[in-house]
Amino acid sequence: MAWMRTAEAAAKVTAPMSRQILVTSALPYANGSIHLGHLVEYLQTDIWARFQRLRGHQVAFLCADDTHGTAIMIRAQKEGRSPEALIAASSDEHQRDFAAFGVSFDHYGSTNSATNYEVCKGIWQALRQRGMVVEREVQRLYDPQQKTFLADRFVRGTCPRCASPDQYGDNCEKCGSTYAATELVNPRSVHSGATPELRPSKQLFVQLTPLQDFLTAWTQRSGALQPEIANYLAGHFLDKPLQDWDVSRPEPYFGFEIPDAKNQFWYVWFDAPVGYIAATAEWCKAKGDSLDRWWKNPECEVVHFLGKDITYFHTLFWPAMLHVGGYQLPKRVHIHGFLRVGGEKMSKSRGTFVTARQYLDQLDPSFLRYYYASKLGPRIDDLDIVPDEFVGKVNSDLVGRVVNLASRSARFVETTGLSATYPDDGGLFARAAAQSEAIAAAYEACDYREATRLCMVLADAANEYVEHKAPWTIKKDPGRSKELQDVCTVVLNLFRQICVYLSPVLPDLAAKTGTLLGEPITRWDQVTTPLVGRSVARFQHMMTRMEPEKLEAMFAAAKAAAEAVAPTPPPAAASTVDDGGPLLAEPLQPTIAIDDFTKLDLRIALVVAAEAVPEAKKLLKLTLSLGGTERRTVFAGIKAYYQPEQLVGRLVVMVANLAPRQMKFGLSEGMVIAAGGDGEAFLLSPDSGAKPGHRLH
Ligand code: MSP
Ligand code: ZN
Repeated sequence: MAWMRTAEAAAKVTAPMSRQILVTSALPYANGSIHLGHLVEYLQTDIWARFQRLRGHQVAFLCADDTHGTAIMIRAQKEGRSPEALIAASSDEHQRDFAAFGVSFDHYGSTNSATNYEVCKGIWQALRQRGMVVEREVQRLYDPQQKTFLADRFVRGTCPRCASPDQYGDNCEKCGSTYAATELVNPRSVHSGATPELRPSKQLFVQLTPLQDFLTAWTQRSGALQPEIANYLAGHFLDKPLQDWDVSRPEPYFGFEIPDAKNQFWYVWFDAPVGYIAATAEWCKAKGDSLDRWWKNPECEVVHFLGKDITYFHTLFWPAMLHVGGYQLPKRVHIHGFLRVGGEKMSKSRGTFVTARQYLDQLDPSFLRYYYASKLGPRIDDLDIVPDEFVGKVNSDLVGRVVNLASRSARFVETTGLSATYPDDGGLFARAAAQSEAIAAAYEACDYREATRLCMVLADAANEYVEHKAPWTIKKDPGRSKELQDVCTVVLNLFRQICVYLSPVLPDLAAKTGTLLGEPITRWDQVTTPLVGRSVARFQHMMTRMEPEKLEAMFAAAKAAAEAVAPTPPPAAASTVDDGGPLLAEPLQPTIAIDDFTKLDLRIALVVAAEAVPEAKKLLKLTLSLGGTERRTVFAGIKAYYQPEQLVGRLVVMVANLAPRQMKFGLSEGMVIAAGGDGEAFLLSPDSGAKPGHRLH
C-alpha cells in the first residue's frame, strides 16, 4: 500500500490549502437608504469575498438589516405604519440596491427574526450564568402624562453644549456632541410635550471588567486588529477599568423583550451583531449545513468588515459576547474610513449625499467598484470621491487601458478564432502569470489600490505590445493573416489574465470576457494557462466611457432630492413616490409662485475674460465681474456660438446664487442666461446704463 501513501502525500502537497471563511459586512440600519458611503464597505467586502471564492476557498458572505431601536420606531410612527412594514420595505430596497451593485451575499437576514432572538437568548443566559449581568437603579426621564420612561430619542430640548434648541436626548445635530438626556435644557417629551421628570428605573448592565484581561490580550496580541485600532483601544478604553454596558431599554422600544426582565428590551446594539450568527444559522439551515461548523470551529476564519464609527461595539462588546457565548472570535476585524466627496463630508445640502439608486439612475456600477478599489488601502484612511479623478480613472485606466485591449483585437479573430498554439510573445504572458501571488497578497491584505495598480502595469505592457504590433495595419495585408491571428491571440490572452485578476472588482467584465472567449472565469489559476485553438464570439461592446455630465446629473439629483424633502411637506402630487425612496424634484406644476422666482439672484455681470476650454467640445470659461472686486468663474456651453474675444467687455445676465458645481475643468460658480434652442444661443444683455452687480427684480 506504499503507493497509496505517496499519492496521498502528493495530493496534500499539490492541493492548495483550502480555507473556510465567514465574511460579514456591518448590518445596515433599516431606517434609511443605502448610499455611496455604505457602498465603500459593501463593495470592499464583496471584492474580498469574491477574491476568496476565486482562490477556491469555502466562503460564506453574510449580512442582514439592522432593524431595532427607537429611530425606526419613530419613523414608522410618523409614516403611519408598523415598524414591521417599514423594515420589510427597507429590506427589499436594500437587497435590490446591493444586487444592482453586484454584492454577492450568500444570505441576507434580519435582526428581527426568531432565529436572532434565540441566539440572543443563548448569549444572555451565558452572561447571566457567569454573573456578569447586574441590575442597578438609574435616574431616567419619565413622561408623567403618558406614564412611560422616555428613551433618549423621545426627549427633545436645548443642547447643553451649544444651546441649539430642539435637539434629541442623546446627541446634538448642530454641534455633534453627545450627552445624557438628563443634561438637556428645557426637556420635553416627544409624545405629550410634557416636561419629563426623573424617576428611578431598574436597568440591566453587562459587566466587562471580568473580561478585561481577556479583551486586552485579544485586542493587543491576537493579530485580529489593525495596529492603529489596537493602539486606540489600548489608549482610550483598556487603560482603565472597562465601564459596565447598559444593555436594557424601557418600553416603548422596537426590539426584543429581555426574557427574564419584564418590559425591558435589549438595546439595539446587543442584538445587532448577533444578526451575523443568526444569518449564518438561517443559511446553514437552508442548505443542511451546521452552524457550529462556522461559529464554533477554530478552523473557520470569521472576518468582519466595518466602518471606524462602530469600532468599539465590534472590538470590545462583541468579542465579550462571543467569548462568553462560546462562539469563535473573529480572526480579523477589518476597519475602514469614511467616504468624503471633494474633500468634504457627505452633505445633503451640497448634493453629495447620493443614494445607491441615484447613482444607478446615471452610472454603471462597475465604475464605482473600480474607482473605490483603486483607492482602498489596508488602513483606516477616509476615501475621497474626486469627480475629475473618478472620470479619469474610469475612462483612461479602465476603458482606455484595459477594455480597449479587447476592442482593438477581438474583431480581427472573429472568423479565425485563436491560434492553435500560443505564439511567442517575448515572455509577456509568463511575466503576468508570475505576478499572481503578489496581486493575491494585495487583495488578501485589503490593499486593492496595490492590486489594481499591479494590473495597470500589466495593462501597460500589453498596450505597448499592441501599439508595436499594430494589428489594424497587419489586417490590411492579406498575406499576413497568420501573424494577425497570433498577435490577437496574444493580446486577448493578456487581456484575459488582467480580467481574471480584476474579476473580484469587475465581475461583469469578467463574465463578458468569459463569453467572448468561450470559457467562464471562475478560478484564479486561470491566469497560468493561455487559451488557444478556440473560437472567439462576436465582439460585443464591453464597457462604455463615463460621461461627466451623468456624474453631474447624479449630484444634481441628490441635491434636488434633499431640497424636496427638506423644509416644506411635499405637495400632494408627490405622494406617489414609493416609501422611503428618494424624492426626486420632478417638475410638478407648470407655474411657480412669486417666492420661487425671488429665490433667483439674477445679476448683471461684465465678462472680463473668456477662453475656450480645449478639452471640452462646448465650453467657454468666463470670468465675470459683479461690480467691485467680486469675480466669478462660469463654464458656459456656448463655444459653438461665440468666439471668446467677442465676449470680453460685454454685459450679460447671470444666476448668481446657483450652487457652485465641480466640473471636470474647474469650479463653475453660476450660470449665464441665454435664449435659443437646438443649435443656437443668444446671450441676454441689459439696456445701456445697467452696471455690473445690478440685481434683476
Ligand atoms: N447598524 C449599524 C451596524 C450594526 S453591525 C452589527 C450601522 N449601520 S449603518 O447603516 O449606519 O452603517 C453600516 C456600515 O456602513 C457601517 O460599517 C458604517 O461604518 C458604514 N458607513 C456608513 N456611512 C459611511 C460613510 N459615509 N462612509 C464609509 N462607511 C460608512 O452602523
Ligand atoms: Zn449642540
